[in-house]
Amino acid sequence: MELLKNDLLIRAALGQQTERTPVWVMRQAGRILPEYRAVREKAKDFVEFVKNPALAAEVTIQPVDILGVDAAIIFSDILVIPEAMGLPYEMQEKRGPWFPETIRTESALNKLHVSDLNDYSYVTDAIRLAKKELNGRVPLIGFAGAPWTIFAYMTEGSGSKTFSVARSLLYNSPVFSHRFMQMITDSTIAYLKDQIAAGVNIVQLFDSWAGILSPEHYKLFAMPYIRQICEAITEVPVVVFPKGAFFTLKDFQDFPCQVVGLDWNMDPTWSREQVGPNKMLQGNMDPALLYSSFDNIRIETKKMLNQFGGTKHIANLGHGVYPDIEADKVKCFIDTVKEYRYKSE
Ligand code: CP3
Repeated sequence: MELLKNDLLIRAALGQQTERTPVWVMRQAGRILPEYRAVREKAKDFVEFVKNPALAAEVTIQPVDILGVDAAIIFSDILVIPEAMGLPYEMQEKRGPWFPETIRTESALNKLHVSDLNDYSYVTDAIRLAKKELNGRVPLIGFAGAPWTIFAYMTEGSGSKTFSVARSLLYNSPVFSHRFMQMITDSTIAYLKDQIAAGVNIVQLFDSWAGILSPEHYKLFAMPYIRQICEAITEVPVVVFPKGAFFTLKDFQDFPCQVVGLDWNMDPTWSREQVGPNKMLQGNMDPALLYSSFDNIRIETKKMLNQFGGTKHIANLGHGVYPDIEADKVKCFIDTVKEYRYKSE
């Protein structure tokens, strides 16, 4: 067994009472850090950056050294899986993710395959390098997109406010949609197991577009696949982040995951009632708070920590940190969590 010097996140994820609340920040390895931007310039583009294990490992460690977070998250992207299945992507400066081809029919789907280690070994190489460099200082988080979110990008071909193409397929081509979700699910299970074999200590499923589905469609097309993944991953704790899908929190009461991620639209007290007493909750500060003053960040962060009651909680933002936030403001959020001790009235 590996010995971690700081294993707060893992103990908290397993439901153990910890000395203080652990904290990390979604998108901590990113443009908020000038040091990240300097490394990013060494790669031709984002996709090449992700595929370069030495550079990916380097920026994975940066937030541990610079921000003092309780965990590193491997620098990669959820779009690694579409590419590994046979659908390449680009990252365009203004537009974000962009797929030259899309998958909207059975015949297009027939050209894809369930991915395996050969398709994404640069990620496991980056994990091994990052683990070596971390040397047990903090746990390393692995991740993947949840099947619905990956399906949404692969069918739509880019980001979208409505994901009309993706959602129309659920109505008009349910058989195709289920077959596609199953291929993504099988790829994702293998991917997460390979990340675990390479050394990650916990994994998170990002369902970034959960909140745009109807409750009925979420139950039918999203949750069964998330369940399969959670049932398959028995080696490490699993965090599920169903962004925006407040209506599904009640379904996590007896779900085979350890942690549920909340976004900032979800009230902590209400969310706890929905999820019940058994799961850990992660989140959920409004990322926009970090545009305000240091004093205000301290006040609002303590307020959030009080709402979660000092137990069964992993502190984070309610979504990824915005790239134009000052790193010192992020550090202020992190330091406030680390200094805080819950006192019951
Ligand atoms: O620090 C970390 O959290 C680890 C790295 C990480 C990235 N992407 C790096 C990245 C993680 C966990 C992701 C997950 C991811 N990628 C998600 C799920 C989380 C979420 O935000 O909902 C999604 C939806 C994606 C897809 C994606 N990748 C989008 C929509 C974008 C463009 C938006 C933007 O910020 O430009 C990306 C690009 C991306 N992934 C960046 C980073 C650091 C920015 C690219 C850059 O450096 O220029």
